[in-house]
Amino acid sequence: METTASHAPPTAPGLPLVGDTFALAGDVGAFFTRQYLQLGPVFRVRALHRAFTVLAGPEANLFVTREGSKHLRSRETWMEFDNELGAARSMVSMDGAEHARMRKAQQPGYSRSFIHEHLHDVIGITRREVAEWPLDKPIPGVYALQRIITEQLGTIAAGVSPRDYLDDMIVFVRTLLAARVTHQRPALLTRTPRFRRARKRVEELYATVRAVHEPDRRSGGQSDLVDDLMALHHVDPQFLPETDLMPAVLGPFIAGLDTVGSTCAFMLYALLKHPDLLDRMTAEADASFAHGTLTAEAVRHLDVTHRVALETLRMYPIAPAIKRTVSNTFEFAGYTIPAGEKVIVATTVPHHLPQYFPDPERFDIERYTPERQEHRQPGVFVPFGAGSHVCLGAGFAEVSIAATMATIVHEVELALDPPDYILKTSPVPTPSPDDRFRFRVARRRGRAAEASSGRQD
Ligand code: HEM
Repeated sequence: METTASHAPPTAPGLPLVGDTFALAGDVGAFFTRQYLQLGPVFRVRALHRAFTVLAGPEANLFVTREGSKHLRSRETWMEFDNELGAARSMVSMDGAEHARMRKAQQPGYSRSFIHEHLHDVIGITRREVAEWPLDKPIPGVYALQRIITEQLGTIAAGVSPRDYLDDMIVFVRTLLAARVTHQRPALLTRTPRFRRARKRVEELYATVRAVHEPDRRSGGQSDLVDDLMALHHVDPQFLPETDLMPAVLGPFIAGLDTVGSTCAFMLYALLKHPDLLDRMTAEADASFAHGTLTAEAVRHLDVTHRVALETLRMYPIAPAIKRTVSNTFEFAGYTIPAGEKVIVATTVPHHLPQYFPDPERFDIERYTPERQEHRQPGVFVPFGAGSHVCLGAGFAEVSIAATMATIVHEVELALDPPDYILKTSPVPTPSPDDRFRFRVARRRGRAAEASSGRQD
């Protein structure tokens, strides 16, 4: 390839030996935004023995969308994760034509229309979980939401409730991501007894899901994601061999845990800090539940709820960056980025830039009104990633967030516990509110109030 640029991109200032290790293990979104403002859309960072070229800004997101499939690959990012599950490859680590085929096979089970068809279960699960929240006692925020979301996804996309496995699933997924994908934690963590125990339990869950999808146990009914995977495995066992089934089959138990779970937790924090928005969202939810439940049509019209969700995804993105390896040399912003280079695309940097989102630190849902539409500017709003691996469950997630949060505010009145809690984000493996984010149920409302007033105790 002929190149016109030859000099190296600038390097972000860091400490001797460790480079930017601490910055990369902390609030990476803020770190990349600062470097973008000082160094421009391409710069290098160093963490112990690893070095990366960072691409940032709307120009980077547009590049990945248009050219990413030609120049970038995912294999190395997810290889160790797959190997820990005994697999040679999975959808996230595939590229090119085989990735497209795998994605097409999994699309129906992760689609917006699939969750629309199962809305009744989504709301029922949320109501059951909320009904178990004790009155006036501190409830761990992230965990409570992870429970609801994973129960929804596991039940509707894989036909199995992960309830009894949730704690092991959390240890397993979070350790794997931190030790084998983001490398914020040492790889040795996947050799500890705690991790091994969790892995055994996850293997048990996998065996259960496989068992309930044996052809003789599936009669009638709508197929779910695992049925689609098993069908592909039977039709083309070389393309999706038994050894590669585990990450795909466990997808529904992994996909929502630190994504929708953390986003709903951030959203709840934002609502509890902005009582005016909470009131507006509650009024909207109450009106939508006027006939007892939420229809897909009603979810589509949850205007305040959707805008609170969009602003949460902008201000508190759970995936601030994506990692890739350069498969074919390219030029970006006047620099040559050579084949083999490790690249981080800091996708959500524009979320924090005032030229696209004025007063970016302000939680402002008016940004998304038809008059402003700030998120529609090209390459600036990228909570679900960009390019060929852009989140396959984005539509599913939007419905899941809206339906879950509308049900919660309709069913219970919540308060922060303690009331003066200020958000601290825990960065490992992906950003989420820290363990001190707790809330309590101040009062039951909606159906929860009717149910508890009818109880004898
Ligand atoms: C707030 C919620 C969510 C956010 C912010 C989010 C974000 C992302 C991002 C940034 C990626 C790209 C990763 C990369 O390129 O390396 C991704 C991929 C993916 N997401 Fe999500 N996600 C969310 C929820 C979900 C849900 C609920 C599902 C399933 C129902 C899902 C399924 C997937 C799948 C299967 C991929 C891999 C796609 C591929 O490799 O082609 N996500 N997600």
